[in-house]
Amino acid sequence: MSFESILMPIREGSCKEEKYSLLIRTLPQLLSLSDHPVSTLSNAVAILHETLQTLWTGIYLVRGQELILFPFQGPVACTRIGKGKGVCGCSWEHDETMIVPDVNAFAGHIACSSQSQSEIVVPLHDPTGEVRGVLDIDSEQLNYFDTTDAHYLCKCVSIIEENINWDLLK
Ligand code: SME
Repeated sequence: MSFESILMPIREGSCKEEKYSLLIRTLPQLLSLSDHPVSTLSNAVAILHETLQTLWTGIYLVRGQELILFPFQGPVACTRIGKGKGVCGCSWEHDETMIVPDVNAFAGHIACSSQSQSEIVVPLHDPTGEVRGVLDIDSEQLNYFDTTDAHYLCKCVSIIEENINWDLLK
């Protein structure tokens, strides 16, 4: 399969909603090509980053009482986030998708890049329903993310969850 043939229609999508809906149709096939969870997460992050053209797209996974940095695209980022800390730690603690329109107005926000202005974080679950990590996406624009992003990113995360062998990530 040519990756260009997957990416081209998404790149050419006329609006965010169309790009997401093309992405959701493509993601199961792309992610099924990999048999290791780090490869699966890497390709998921890459295609999301390319689709949304955001500043930073990445995955943090739960290890004990911390989130640890896993595959990402964008500027270098902090490697450990405590439970309940920052937007990612709050999303994990409350098992909640968090849309932050202005990161500077979020008490406790962890600034990995001064360019980041808004952020969305979606928790990742294993088949038992336990939160095993988060998908974090940052934008250079204020108010970049809305309920459309939350809706489609939750669908993307469900597809990612279905394609991860969580036992290989222990
Ligand atoms: N801003 C996040 C930290 C991770 S970086 O954005 C990549 C937070 O507050 O949890």
